[in-house]
Amino acid sequence: MSQQLLIGIDIGTSGTKTAIYDETGKRLAVHTEEYPLYQPQNGWAEQDPEDWWQATVKGLQAVLGADGVDPYDVVGIGLSGQMHGLVMLDENGNVLRRSIIWCDGRTAEECDEITALVGKDRLMEITKSPALTGFTASKILWVRKHEPEIYEKCRHILLPKDYIRYKLTGELATDVSDASGMQLLDIAKRDWSQEVLDALSIDRSLLARVVESPDVTGTVTAEAATLTGLDVGTIVVGGAGDNAAAAVGCGAVRDGYGFTTIGTSGVVFSHCKELRVDPDGRIHSFCAAVPGEYHVMGVTLAAGLSLRWFRDTFSAVEQAEADADGRDVYALMDDKAAEIPIGANRLLFLPHLMGERTPHLDPAARGAWIGLSASHTRAHCLRAVMEGVIYSLRDCLTLFDAAGVSAPEVMMACGGGAVSPLWRQMLADVLGCTVRTAASNDGGALGAALLAGVGAGVYPSVPAACDAVIRTRSEQPPIPQNSKAYEPYYQLYHKTYAAIRPVCHALGEMD
Ligand code: XUL
Repeated sequence: MSQQLLIGIDIGTSGTKTAIYDETGKRLAVHTEEYPLYQPQNGWAEQDPEDWWQATVKGLQAVLGADGVDPYDVVGIGLSGQMHGLVMLDENGNVLRRSIIWCDGRTAEECDEITALVGKDRLMEITKSPALTGFTASKILWVRKHEPEIYEKCRHILLPKDYIRYKLTGELATDVSDASGMQLLDIAKRDWSQEVLDALSIDRSLLARVVESPDVTGTVTAEAATLTGLDVGTIVVGGAGDNAAAAVGCGAVRDGYGFTTIGTSGVVFSHCKELRVDPDGRIHSFCAAVPGEYHVMGVTLAAGLSLRWFRDTFSAVEQAEADADGRDVYALMDDKAAEIPIGANRLLFLPHLMGERTPHLDPAARGAWIGLSASHTRAHCLRAVMEGVIYSLRDCLTLFDAAGVSAPEVMMACGGGAVSPLWRQMLADVLGCTVRTAASNDGGALGAALLAGVGAGVYPSVPAACDAVIRTRSEQPPIPQNSKAYEPYYQLYHKTYAAIRPVCHALGEMD
């Protein structure tokens, strides 16, 4: 074997990224394959697990066929994935319905049922969260109530990346970080809670076994090897939920280290050696990908999703201009937004396009531009969208205090949105801290590959893997006069959702 190669597969919401690295973290090849998000009703969100699998097969074929890559040199595969999505399989391992994913808000009623059945306090004590529509348990109850014939046939419940593991290895397993978002895990014990399962009448045998993120869960089967080009017997480790994996991919694996992601969702994350909890559960306390350790995070449901929505709905002109110039449309949109001064000429945007998790915990929340006037152009609206997403991330960070967690001393920026220098500067200015980017923006895919490296014995531990591989590329300190200019807008933003909440709820009840 000439080199030790590691593969990371990140099952995202906009697409699956497959990347292959050598043991120094040098990326040899990468492939991203996109797929649709289905929204059968306002506030619902589903994806097809078969799309994830096909995207994985294509990604593996592409990276294994790249120059300088020999599949026999691959020593491990790690998986990272969008959290919370419900995948249901029948007795033959066939998918029973589309996956109801993390940003789906249909299960408010089932959340009330969970609270009543488990008890509000016990639910907080065990799962460290109030019942949330985004989490998997309420989705299970929804299918049981509305599609009993499907529930009847269900023999296995998996999370998105764990379905890919099943297709690669035939094994039913999940890892503690991803399992934390199912609302069925005893977070302190890092195992399923029999008490919660009993209260919800969910049979434990439906769930996969739970492992720590670097643990080996199985090996690639002959069938998967034929399809993908992998070598039979290559190990697949537990991996992690996308945020815990991104933490590894940007080196946020020690106390005082955190990151902000502007991906489809927006996340503010801090690693904690010990378990820390906001008593009101407005930020999540989950198991980390570092065995035995934890993290807290706040989640904005529509961060990059808001910008993509703006692009798809309003930016045909920019798209045509970008196509004509051979440019990326987001880079062009960045330029247009940069021409508009801070505050977008007195325009605010609330990014609650998919309901909101942190801080409102309200699936009926909806987005809004506030302050629209006839003097506003599309560029003002765009600038307001970008600013609103950052204000929402500041709301997340503000809550860390309630969990007794200080704001991270080192704040990395990752996700597709972190590619934008304008968005990164806004983040530094509005959060009031220096924002750094890692030399690699692969986040979850790199993190998953490093976890595979730990499982394969290439690195002795997760922090050691990060020390060996993660390098910082750029640093953006806050610009004091910008921070001052954003402050009154953020203060207004912070108060605005409470004012429009009754309208959002009344709209949600319209026929
Ligand atoms: C985390 C969350 C999202 C998804 C999608 O709780 O819902 O960040 O993991 O990326």
